[in-house]
Amino acid sequence: MPPDPPGRPPFGAPTGPSAGTAPPAGAEDGPGETLADDATVDLRSARLDSGVDDVLDGLDRELVGLEPVKTRLREIAALLLVDQQRARFGLTSAQPNLHMSFTGGPGTGKTTVACRMAELLKRLGYLRRGHLVAVTREDLVGQYVGHTAPKTSEILKRAMGGVLFIDEAYYLYRADNERDYGQESIEILLQVMENQRQDLVVILAGYKDQMDAFFQSNPGMSSRIAHHIDFPDYTVGELEAIGALMVSAVGYRLSPAARATFRDYLTRRSRQPRFANARSVRNAVERARLRHANRILAQEPAAVTKDDLMRLEPDDFLASRVFSERPPAPGASERPAPVP
Ligand SMILES: Nc1ncnc2c1ncn2[C@@H]1O[C@H](COP(=O)(O)OP(=O)(O)OP(=O)(O)O)[C@@H](O)[C@H]1O
Ligand SMILES: [Mg+2]
Repeated sequence: MPPDPPGRPPFGAPTGPSAGTAPPAGAEDGPGETLADDATVDLRSARLDSGVDDVLDGLDRELVGLEPVKTRLREIAALLLVDQQRARFGLTSAQPNLHMSFTGGPGTGKTTVACRMAELLKRLGYLRRGHLVAVTREDLVGQYVGHTAPKTSEILKRAMGGVLFIDEAYYLYRADNERDYGQESIEILLQVMENQRQDLVVILAGYKDQMDAFFQSNPGMSSRIAHHIDFPDYTVGELEAIGALMVSAVGYRLSPAARATFRDYLTRRSRQPRFANARSVRNAVERARLRHANRILAQEPAAVTKDDLMRLEPDDFLASRVFSERPPAPGASERPAPVP
């Protein structure tokens, strides 16, 4: 493992905004002093002080389903929390490798979870800044000789202290062209992922099959990714629950009849091309709001109640093309065609 660069506190030392001002819970000694072998540390207050429960509870409250994803985040939080306390006894652990791959279809929550992960890692003192820099091949790879290295380095510089999220990471590699500039970017990324992993977490995101093929052609990348997290497509029940959360977050509600129509809408929409899971739900809610506004503006008499202003009705969904289009043939692709 490469040594920590000078000036950076050892992993496990608090680095959040309160670092250096308040000693960790239960510590009578100043930060940096090693606890005696027979001392005890209070894991519960360490956990409370870190604020990690806010992030984890927020995930539970605001994101429907995704149980395996939430479990993995809890496990990582537990490891880092325990590592922090071990460090107080002078037990230094190998810096855990937290580079990850997030695989799944469009709109399954990959970017959203990556943002929460960044926040979690900041609270646990693993990342200095906890921001997320989301990029694609275009941001990393140049068009001409000599352009790729500065482009990739610039992005890495921006991401340091946070999470670098590379969407559709497999486009960095073109199997049919060994001299593609993407390879140069991959090599720079590999180096930084190894040598500066105490200051940067890289998350590669994309469809599972393409990501598997990418890892097979890039064993160096594969070996640096410690966590492979799969984001399954949502069931209709989960889409409904996501819709209910979104509707109430914007201060609306579904009438009982609209709830049934919305379920029907989601069932149909999920079988159609270009279905994008929770993103399609968000779009449906936005369009229902448009129709609702037009409906109540056209209504006579013009006096409306608070409830009228909040209540979505079946008509707000039924006007959608989803109800007039024929269902596609079974097995028809719903995915956008890959970039050649
Ligand atoms: N489990 C969930 N519960 C509630 N809302 C969700 C959930 N998953 C995703 N969303 C919402 O759906 C939208 C799309 O999610 P996000 O952008 O994270 O998906 P993605 O997997 O990154 O998609 P893409 O692959 O297309 O980039 C966001 O508005 C997000 O808040
Ligand atoms: Mg995304």
